Amino acid sequence: AEIMKGQYDHFMQKEIYEQPESVVNTMRGRVNFDTGTITLGGLKAYLPVIRRGRRLLFVACGTSYHSCIAVRPVFEELTEIPVSVELASDFLDRRTPVFRDDIAIFVSQSGETADTILAMRYCLERGALCLGVVNVVGSTLSRETHSGIHINAGPEIGVASTKAYTSQYIALVMMAVQLSDDSISKAERRQQIIAALHDIPSQIKTVLSLDKSLQQLAKDTLAKEKSLLIMGRGYQFATCLEGALKIKEVSYMHSEGILAGELKHGPLALVDEHLPVIFIMTQDSLYPKTQSALAQVTARKGQPIIICNEEDKSVNDTHKVIRVPRTIDCLQGIINVVVLQCISYHLAILNGIDVDFPRNLAKSVTTE
Ligand code: G6P
Repeated sequence: AEIMKGQYDHFMQKEIYEQPESVVNTMRGRVNFDTGTITLGGLKAYLPVIRRGRRLLFVACGTSYHSCIAVRPVFEELTEIPVSVELASDFLDRRTPVFRDDIAIFVSQSGETADTILAMRYCLERGALCLGVVNVVGSTLSRETHSGIHINAGPEIGVASTKAYTSQYIALVMMAVQLSDDSISKAERRQQIIAALHDIPSQIKTVLSLDKSLQQLAKDTLAKEKSLLIMGRGYQFATCLEGALKIKEVSYMHSEGILAGELKHGPLALVDEHLPVIFIMTQDSLYPKTQSALAQVTARKGQPIIICNEEDKSVNDTHKVIRVPRTIDCLQGIINVVVLQCISYHLAILNGIDVDFPRNLAKSVTTE
């Protein structure tokens, strides 16, 4: 059946707004909120092999790569297996060593990205267990991997990936939880994550209810700018990278995601009274460090726009502030990224860009 935009002006907007439902579809039949368990059918038979793996090797491109970056900390925490996250092209360029006891996880919305497919075949040849995390059922990646997870986000038409990102993120967190369910010491953390997953759909809705004010912010503060930095650390580093990619892709504005811990190693030189900097400072254990990065930027008269939690009283409302619902640290990036998706969408529209088909880009890159 033909997919229609319905009440929306663009597929990207429709897909952003679908996220309260698409994340539910990712969890459906897999998360049992009553018993506090997560079961991904495709992984069940492979759990012992994965747990014995020497390394979890995530390989992807673009937005899918960012979802891997987003979940690296929670995989490290819950599985205690070393994790590598690789861009497929660079992984192949380096002819990276791969071993039979590696667990290689290929993340791709389309399942047809050439670099990711070539990386998968490279790992298959070397005897690694290959798992696919894909949206498109029957795609090359889902057929050629040993097993995997369908993220069930529904068809994504807009070239800039939005709902696939949040569904990949959730699917991967579910995988990390399931992998750790043989560990008693991690039981409490697992229960906290599962409880937090329950509230994610309504929290995304709350973010979407801010859309008018995000449009206003895009118009008043950002649309005329040449460049925009997005800063954060820890769990939010991926959000910075993904937000900057969205803004580049659809608004053609230069934007960079910056790890706040690297601020003093270079990016600080860019800061003056003209440069807009979005700070992602939702509350987690790294909050004090992000605060000190903010202080460094304001001391140089930088103009911060702060994404923080609703109840955070330590953020000064003389700055431009966007307040979002708080969830557990390892899921907060799902909530935060929606803010940046909305901002990128509005920047594109304000700049008169066909947001569903940005110049020079393709939904699926099937050549090397
Ligand atoms: C292209 C698209 C991106 C996407 C990337 C990876 O570059 O324009 O939006 O993130 O491919 O695509 P995949 O289908 O492998 O997730």
